[in-house]
Amino acid sequence: MARVLLNSVTKRFGNVIAVNDVDLEVRDKEFVVLVGPSGCGKTTTLRMIAGLEEITKGTISIGDTVVNDIPPKDRDIAMVFQNYALYPHMDVYNNMAFGLKLRKFPKTEIDRRVKEAARMLGIENLLDRKPKQLSGGQRQRVAVGRAVVREPKVFLMDEPLSNLDAKLRVQMRAELSKLHQRLQATIIYVTHDQIEAMTMGDRIVVMRDGIIQQVASPLVIYNHPNNAFVAGFIGSPPMNFINMILTREDDRYFVETIEGRVRLEIPRERVPYFENLDAYVEKEVVFGIRPEDIEDYNVFRVQYGEAVDSMMNSFTAMVDVIEPMGAETYLYLSLDEEIPQLIARVDAGTTAVSGEQHKVAINMNKCQLFDKETEKTLRKEDVRLR
Ligand SMILES: Nc1ncnc2c1ncn2[C@@H]1O[C@H](COP(=O)(O)OP(=O)(O)O)[C@@H](O)[C@H]1O
Ligand SMILES: [Mg+2]
Repeated sequence: MARVLLNSVTKRFGNVIAVNDVDLEVRDKEFVVLVGPSGCGKTTTLRMIAGLEEITKGTISIGDTVVNDIPPKDRDIAMVFQNYALYPHMDVYNNMAFGLKLRKFPKTEIDRRVKEAARMLGIENLLDRKPKQLSGGQRQRVAVGRAVVREPKVFLMDEPLSNLDAKLRVQMRAELSKLHQRLQATIIYVTHDQIEAMTMGDRIVVMRDGIIQQVASPLVIYNHPNNAFVAGFIGSPPMNFINMILTREDDRYFVETIEGRVRLEIPRERVPYFENLDAYVEKEVVFGIRPEDIEDYNVFRVQYGEAVDSMMNSFTAMVDVIEPMGAETYLYLSLDEEIPQLIARVDAGTTAVSGEQHKVAINMNKCQLFDKETEKTLRKEDVRLR
């Protein structure tokens, strides 16, 4: 059993609280990604699990053992770092074998493990090369191989792909996911890249300023963010946020821009998603909508006919910039001071022209609302989302 459990774990460096009262359970064989901006405490959390950093407060358990006082080498973990730190004078075989030799493993066992890991990672034909004769991606595989031969209970990986170019990163992402399935091991993976988190994690842990913001599966994080920070951090282009006033007319709810030029109805089906909207009526809230939930009105009109007007809320805005991506087009829109910037991800068949007004439709069934002061979501607390 390789469950990893953090109980009220805090790490202080002098006055800096790097990790603040973190509770986290990483399940056996799970691939968990810690994600957040630089300096939010990801590396420190990983290093405490590895035993490379002392814990200021709290306990960490691996399996059923509290490891606070167990040295790194006895924790049955292996760590892969961002700078792979291969030994330059050793060939690939010996780079992978080195740790096992130090631990006095029999030669035949070392040979079996190195060859098996090399096969798994597709580097069997590189075993006699020195690191400088390898490409970045190959070096990264060797660094992972060096961890794999240890056959640890838990793999800890700190931004292992960040030194690779974009194309290789995409490829290695998929390879690490495959490797996880084959190894059946627990992996805790750290990255600042929200796309890596979304694509690789069974669950994602979003951190900010040493504090966990949300722990959930990628789609729950994406569709039901706990707060405006999580909503804005996960997703690209990011979610749009607009300060709006919540209003009510009989049993219908609306959000309106401060000067009232845009008024959008929260559909009846969406209202129950939120907790006690009445407490916010006539108050300012933060309205959130993802770029893909804003469409070119004309495109929808062609697709759905007049039904669009009952399904969708629409308004006209200035098209500041058009970015064709091929499969789709990004529109940068604005509405004077009311809405300084709004990014829409629309059908590539859009007829929008930059510098001209264009009508867009908003899929309000996907709208989010956040408290203006606390930035917390107004959606209902739903245990099934966790
Ligand atoms: N050895 C250290 N001494 C002092 N402060 C540190 C040390 N290591 C990290 N920190 C601070 O702790 C916070 C978290 O750092 P870190 O865990 O490296 O963040 P991340 O990996 O998310 O970028 C930062 O404010 C950083 O400056
Ligand atoms: Mg770091």
